[in-house]
Order: sequence, then C-alpha cells, then structure tokens
Amino acid sequence: MRPVLSLGYLRMAVADLSAWKTFLIDFIGLMEVDGPTPDAVHLRLDDHAARIVLTTAEQSQLLAAGYEVLNETHLDELAAAVSEFGIEVTRGSAQEAAERQVRALVKFTDPGGNPVELYCGPLRSYLPMQSPVSRFITGDQGMGHIITNSTDVDRDFEFYTTVLGFEDRNTMELPHGRMYFMSPNPRQHTLGLHPAEAPGLMHLMFEAATIDDVGAAMDRRDEHGIAPMQSLGRHTNDDMVSFYVWSPDLQAVEFGYGATTVHRPEPSYQIAQGAYWGHKFTPPPAG
Ligand SMILES: [Fe+2]
Repeated sequence: MRPVLSLGYLRMAVADLSAWKTFLIDFIGLMEVDGPTPDAVHLRLDDHAARIVLTTAEQSQLLAAGYEVLNETHLDELAAAVSEFGIEVTRGSAQEAAERQVRALVKFTDPGGNPVELYCGPLRSYLPMQSPVSRFITGDQGMGHIITNSTDVDRDFEFYTTVLGFEDRNTMELPHGRMYFMSPNPRQHTLGLHPAEAPGLMHLMFEAATIDDVGAAMDRRDEHGIAPMQSLGRHTNDDMVSFYVWSPDLQAVEFGYGATTVHRPEPSYQIAQGAYWGHKFTPPPAG
C-alpha cells in the first residue's frame, strides 16, 4: 500500500474573514503571504508556500483537507485505490493545482462526508518565517492534526486505514459513538473521526516547539479577546500540553507543545478520558 504522508493544507471558506485573520495571524502566529488566488488569505507556518487558505463565503465550511503524497506515481495509485473503494475521484485541473501551489492533485469526498484532496509537489517558500512562534512542529508530521465530524465513522476509519495507509492509534468511546484517532506518520494522530449528524471540521491543532510558545500564545489569546475553551492541560493519547480556544466558527482550536511521536507499529488502545490534568471546559461565548 502507498500511504499518504501527512496533512499538508486546509482550505476553508469563512463568513467572517477579518475575525479569522485576527485569530490565525495575530493569535496563532501564522504568516500572511501573497498567493495565487485573488481575495484569498494565504497563510504560512513553515516552508510550504501556504498551509491554510481562507476564502469568504456566506456559510463557513471546510473546502478541503489536503494530504501530501510522495510523487505523481503514488498520487495515481492512491487515486485508483480510492475509486476502487467506491468513491468518485476527480483529477484537479491545472488551474486548481496552480491555486494550491502544488504539482498535481485529486479530489473526493470521504465516507464521513468531508472534502479531501491528495496532492504532490508543493511549492516551497524560502522567505524567512515571521511569527511570534519560535517554530511550528511540521516536517514529516505535517502541519498539525484535525478532527472531522463524520457521518459514518466506521466506514471512514476503514477507508483511511485500508486505502490511505493511516495507522490505527487509539479510540475513545463516547455516549453517541466511537472516536478514532489515526496517523500515517509519527504524529500520534493526524486525523480524528468524531461521530456526528453532519460533516465538518470540528478541531484543529497547531504544535509549537516550546512551552514558552504556549505561554506567549495564551497571552495573545487574552490580548486579542479570543474565547477560551479549555484551560492548559496534558492529553492522554499524544501527551501534548496545550490549551484550547473557540475559533470564529466555534471549532475547537488547540495550541500546544511537547507531543509524543510514534515510530514503530504500536498496538491500538482505548482512552477513557482526554487529559491527565487540566483542559477544564468553558462553553462558547453567547451570541
Ligand atoms: Fe487535538
């Protein structure tokens, strides 16, 4: 099997672009750069030309979670495997590849209802990063991790593990179903699946290099009036020390450091709680 490598980019349509720019640039510390799509906001967090691209729309929605693959041969093989699984795959046009600053891509909807793209050949940027964050942990581990709301977690899990090469890392039983945590690389989880009635992006995590990055991000949270969601805590599965906030569209966004990595096959396990300590919950702001 040819596994995907890592979570490479997110494309999102957002209703309140200005709130999202404050959130991702001023608070998280991403760097806004020029990009190929007029009126879109292109954001860097490492040497990839853009890891997050925001466009405006009346209704906010995830447009694509992009996963990087090794090369065009792997892209073709994975596209064939996705379609053999019974999912309709569309090859991205030259214009779509140019917009994403990649060599080639394919697009499809996963069994949980979320839009996915596989791509190869991302453009690299050699401009120095300008960010209050010392360094985001990326490289082989990709840009971070996400949890999607999935309308069929079991089929979704089967798809990601048997077709895209994600490893089953751990599960968590919730009153309304099972959550799956998976990754195709040493990041303990790159993708979590959360059982839900409707698809969408539920959670997004950025990992920084140091505890000082986390503390300074907490200061920026307060400075910019970002709504807290969970206090500082340490997760049970990836051991990350982090805090959570509410995004402008009320996704759970995590900023942390110090996650464990997985370098050889490990037996899957269940967790009964998300944190060893902390992560005390604050509901979303009324509005
Ligand atoms: Fe997380």
